[in-house]
Amino acid sequence: MSYPYQIKNIEEYEQAYKQSVMDPEGFWANIADHFLWRRKWDKVLEWNFSDPDIKWFQGGKLNITENCLDRHLGTLGNRPAIIWEPNDPEERHRILTYRELYTKVCQFANVLKNNGVKKGDRICIYMGMIPELAIAVLACARIGAIHSVVFGGFSAQSISDRIKDASCSLVITCDGAFRGNKDIPLKSVIDDALMTCPTVKKVIVATRTRTPVSMLKGRDVWWEDEIKAVETMGNPPCPAEEMDAEDMLFILYTSGSTGKPKGVVHTCGGYMVYANYTFVNTFQYQPGEVYFCTADVGWITGHSYIIYGPLSAGATTLMFEGVPTYPDAGRLWEIVDKFRVNILYTAPTAIRSLMGYGLGPVNHKDLSSLRKLGSVGEPINEEAWHWFKDNIGKGRCPIVDTWWQTETGGIMITPIAGITKEKPGYATLPMPGVQPILVDEAGKEIQGNGVNGNLCIKHPWPGMLRTTYGDHERFRNTYFSTYENLYFTGDGCLRDEEGYYRITGRVDDVLNVSGHRIGTAEVENAINMHAGVVESAVVGYPHDIKGQGIYAYVTLEHLSHDAELTKKDIAQTVARIIGPIAKPDKIQFVDGLPKTRSGKIMRRILRKIAENDLDNLGDTSTLLDPSVVEDIKKGRL
Ligand code: WTA
Repeated sequence: MSYPYQIKNIEEYEQAYKQSVMDPEGFWANIADHFLWRRKWDKVLEWNFSDPDIKWFQGGKLNITENCLDRHLGTLGNRPAIIWEPNDPEERHRILTYRELYTKVCQFANVLKNNGVKKGDRICIYMGMIPELAIAVLACARIGAIHSVVFGGFSAQSISDRIKDASCSLVITCDGAFRGNKDIPLKSVIDDALMTCPTVKKVIVATRTRTPVSMLKGRDVWWEDEIKAVETMGNPPCPAEEMDAEDMLFILYTSGSTGKPKGVVHTCGGYMVYANYTFVNTFQYQPGEVYFCTADVGWITGHSYIIYGPLSAGATTLMFEGVPTYPDAGRLWEIVDKFRVNILYTAPTAIRSLMGYGLGPVNHKDLSSLRKLGSVGEPINEEAWHWFKDNIGKGRCPIVDTWWQTETGGIMITPIAGITKEKPGYATLPMPGVQPILVDEAGKEIQGNGVNGNLCIKHPWPGMLRTTYGDHERFRNTYFSTYENLYFTGDGCLRDEEGYYRITGRVDDVLNVSGHRIGTAEVENAINMHAGVVESAVVGYPHDIKGQGIYAYVTLEHLSHDAELTKKDIAQTVARIIGPIAKPDKIQFVDGLPKTRSGKIMRRILRKIAENDLDNLGDTSTLLDPSVVEDIKKGRL
């Protein structure tokens, strides 16, 4: 496979960028031309950011799986599509060629059909990182069912909320998942979730851990039995469903500043073109390279850069079931060595945690196959950047620090590996087709260089979300109402003297904990459900490994006899309501929260205290009771 739209040098980057701004429609149409369409589009783009309404490649017909699978069979049928490395290094790895993956996707798509799934149905997928997860995702896309993947670390309550929001009719899960030394009982979590989800008629369970599971008659079936049934039918082919470019491809829930996660909706045509274009260009993927992204398919990075981007490019994508520290902190390097990985895409939190183990686990691993490195999910501090560059890339590999969001579908601001300049701590320059601008609080554009502001995007790009599922008003409100005619990212950003972008972090009430997005309001709601809690306020604070930690201020009805145990109980409630990833790192019991006279909690003050920036609390005279601040300062953890 060749990529005629792959940028080859700095002049081509500048040329592509210029053209993408002058003539976005021509620019994207030229790229989209290189994909497999059943029918070409009538109109490249129609948009306004006020309704808002965004349509790319209208009238175009396609199926993304024909682009990820069928079109490669002739030339790349025997090339590894997915290399899968299990959690336990003693267990055998698996390799699925494009042909094998195609066959398995078609088989499982037929399983879905046999179980009554039709185009447009919503399917919840809650699985560990095994090839069957990628197969399930692609099988949904094959028949036009909309997948909603829920990360394996979310609780039953969170799954149930997501299933209900999208009225899913079927769930695909596993008996359990191996992660490090843990064995997570996924099916049992699903059983709890489904007690409150009447829309779910079927559950398909793949075996992985062989942990005992209860199978409900009439509802639950085994993946393997269903596959056998398809084989008994003689493995009929599964033609891909013809989809409109703007038909929904998937929903992925993500946290915002309100208590309820929102279902980010991506559609077929634009998302495919954008995921592929950004993959091929950012990483400068060359045919035959082995590419390893350490994310989980439960997050957008896994959707775009483990599955759709690489597979649509005919790449070899490595999927790892486990965690970087199991059985020891050399595991990622071991995998790079074992499979001669060429491109490694990971998260700052993983790098920081591995840095803590020193160079022992890195030494004696052959990392000479590595050519390009990438980082995603949160700002990468310079120390981690240099450690990655020097000790993993041995000073020879470019690092791409890629800024983007669940909502953007693909990478937005990043170096182009080895072509545009990199700068530690900076996402640097926009992808062609991306028009970032900085605005002040009043929404006025901040021009020039050496400036700070809120990051917005002023023109649509094909990968952007189209709505939030079932609530278009929320879509408008969240992204397009803060600043007129601009998509607001929620991030603060610096543009330095040279015009390079550095993301400074969220400016809304969203935390980024180990690269996971968590809304403060969600955590507060969960804490407030704990018996005896009157109210709570949650803020982030700098954390050496996680990037941000969760700091909760909690008022109780009665003083607790055993404060430490009560803290653990509260953390347990949060784990039950949201999932272990949202457990507070610190809980401080307080007599009262700093509030304005109108009853609004002054988070700014709480944030400063959590950050230990006690001299800059600002004006506290407008508080209802300024003395609470002194008490909170004294009790700071
Ligand atoms: C943050 C993950 C700095 C940012 C792909 C964004 C980053 C949020 C970077 C989206 C980066 C992501 N540098 N910050 N390279 N990448 N972020 O939706 O705050 O899980 O808004 O998407 O992560 O997180 P999400």
